[in-house]
Amino acid sequence: MQNLLVLILAAGRGERMRSALPKVLHPLSGRPLFSYVLETAEKLKPKKILAVVGHQAASVKKLFPNKKVEWVLQKEQLGTAHAVLSAASFLKGHKGPLLILSGDVPLLRLETLRSLQTKFEEERASLAFLTTELFDPSGYGRVVRDGDGEVDRIVEEKEASPEQKELREINAGIYLAETEEILKPLREIRRSPLKKEYYLTDLVEHLLREGKKVVSVFSKESGECLGINDRSQLAGAEELLRQRINLEWMKKGVSLRHPSSIWISSETVIEPDVIIHPGVIINGRSRISRGAEIFPYSVVEDSVVGVGARIGPFARLRPGSFVGEGARVGNFVELKKTVMKKGAKANHLTYLGDAVVGEGANVGCGTITCNYDGFRKNRTVIGKKVFIGSDVQLVAPVTIGDNAWVGAGTTVTKAVPSGSLAVSRVEQKNIKGWVKQKRKKEKKRG
Ligand code: UD1
Ligand code: CA
Repeated sequence: MQNLLVLILAAGRGERMRSALPKVLHPLSGRPLFSYVLETAEKLKPKKILAVVGHQAASVKKLFPNKKVEWVLQKEQLGTAHAVLSAASFLKGHKGPLLILSGDVPLLRLETLRSLQTKFEEERASLAFLTTELFDPSGYGRVVRDGDGEVDRIVEEKEASPEQKELREINAGIYLAETEEILKPLREIRRSPLKKEYYLTDLVEHLLREGKKVVSVFSKESGECLGINDRSQLAGAEELLRQRINLEWMKKGVSLRHPSSIWISSETVIEPDVIIHPGVIINGRSRISRGAEIFPYSVVEDSVVGVGARIGPFARLRPGSFVGEGARVGNFVELKKTVMKKGAKANHLTYLGDAVVGEGANVGCGTITCNYDGFRKNRTVIGKKVFIGSDVQLVAPVTIGDNAWVGAGTTVTKAVPSGSLAVSRVEQKNIKGWVKQKRKKEKKRG
């Protein structure tokens, strides 16, 4: 859209979240709500993006230091119309459309904004706004229409009559306007006597009264219009986002067994022919390569899983882990900043932190890298084809050379040269007849 200005309203406290965190910073699938709206705005390639902030403005601004956003301060949050007017100095003299987005409506699709734009342009409207129909419209502004079905006004829940409350068509809080035409009517909006706020929604009535054209666009995918005022709506949005993401990956050739229990972050990339089992959570910027399989209840965060690798069940890949081609990370194995090279295995009950496990190495059950000495994290380097027996502690920093073996129960404190065996154990003693003697003693005692 030519000469487009985007204004994001994000100054509200969001009382109903009952939180110390400003509403627009609440995470949705690991990212603040505001970042979703900002991303949508950026995709439109507007001339400028303005964001109205107020409640804890500094903490909102701090989270987006590198973004091309002009921050506008709304000192007191006196309502959505007041929020728009706090950007008046930027809007004055702007010849072109203004898109107003709500900072708490994160799932809006770009194609919907495009249809809003088409209608706005085709009808040469002064204002176009987005509506949808909800099974439970409570809390939202209702769209009141006249006998011909034309928009008459938007009435807020607090002001709605019992009949109006029955209306299921709601205002999504997304508007496209002719900037110069809305400034005067915006200033004429009076405070609502009930909520003591300046409602942006009153703009509809004001424009119509001036004989201006107001149109609406109906979204059939009501989920994208979800506004987040409380934590149950936040959970609802998260659920919708999860469904959207999962569907997308299934279309691209990823098998999800029981998708409703699988959570994949929006930044994760998955290649075809990956199989993901129930209860798996993939967070952050992770990458799962072709043919890999992630078994039930595993958690992957900011990590890479190589071609054909097998993870879990009940495995945990913490940030910075890299599991190479065909490698295996089994049940109750935790990796942190660890590289498992091609074909390496750690099948059971193991912690590997700040480690490199060489190609084809086998890490036995119960192996632990003692990577933290109380001051700093230290590295463990395990060579190619190393065999580590069960219940081994590797006290880092330590290196195990290629083809070396480490006997079960060993505490490794110094480098193991390649091809050698390291064992540190108290030698086993067998005491003949010990059990019989003990029984006798016990009997005597009575
Ligand atoms: C608003 C609409 C309602 C619509 C709903 C859709 C009004 C009066 N009502 O209601 O018709 O159905 O959104 O989700 O607009 N904000 C500011 N400054 C303020 C007040 C709010 O920046 O002074 C921001 C908030 O941070 C939020 C957005 O504007 O991101 C919407 O405000 P909110 O209080 O959530 O409005 P709703 O009651 O949900
Ligand atoms: Ca809202």
